[in-house]
Amino acid sequence: MASITLSHAAPSQLCSGKSGIFSPSQALLVKSLRTQIIRKGKEMRITCQATSIAADRVPDLEKRKLMNLLLLGALSLPTAGMLVPYATFFAPPGSGSSTGGVVAKDALGNDVLAEEWLKTHGPGDRTLTQGLKGDPTYLVVEKDRTLATYGINAVCTHLGCVVPWNKAENKFMCPCHGSQYNDQGRVVRGPAPLSLALSHADVDDGKVLFVPWVETDFRTGEAPWWA
Ligand code: FES
Repeated sequence: MASITLSHAAPSQLCSGKSGIFSPSQALLVKSLRTQIIRKGKEMRITCQATSIAADRVPDLEKRKLMNLLLLGALSLPTAGMLVPYATFFAPPGSGSSTGGVVAKDALGNDVLAEEWLKTHGPGDRTLTQGLKGDPTYLVVEKDRTLATYGINAVCTHLGCVVPWNKAENKFMCPCHGSQYNDQGRVVRGPAPLSLALSHADVDDGKVLFVPWVETDFRTGEAPWWA
């Protein structure tokens, strides 16, 4: 309890104002005040009495920091959960390899596993898979039942039809305008002006990986026109 004796001050100023007995910060800690005014002749005695101090109810700085962190975490998690899918929607799909290669996909969209593929595809087989840039690409099985180290892009170099493999003729024969390519995709009859494009067919961790072919075209001895 505190008391002061003044002659010219209002009671409300004495107990709650800036110039009063209790400062504003102290006033926060005081649950309630009781003001007593005692007159003795011309003298007025003001008694301010705090009945309850609630300092223990104000969180200390460490607690407030902890609560702020908890609040920040509670807001950040759902926000990040919404932003990540939104950002990935606009990001291009990964190439699948640091070398710019992609894993070959079968007709069902599954990764092509080299060992499994060779169990179901015999010597001389040429089957379409999905290759670089999504282009239809032939995966070639050699006569010794191994995978060829190259894939053949099936897009005709004339006007872009997908060229089917003709096993009986041992050629790729375009149904659109009659262009033909040998079993390695080298053009043998026009109007197609160029051979079918190549890509490397590597095996990485059991999966077939198509990698851009930028070296000399082994079929023609020339620089690759597609690179
Ligand atoms: S698109 Fe193949 S020959 Fe014309």
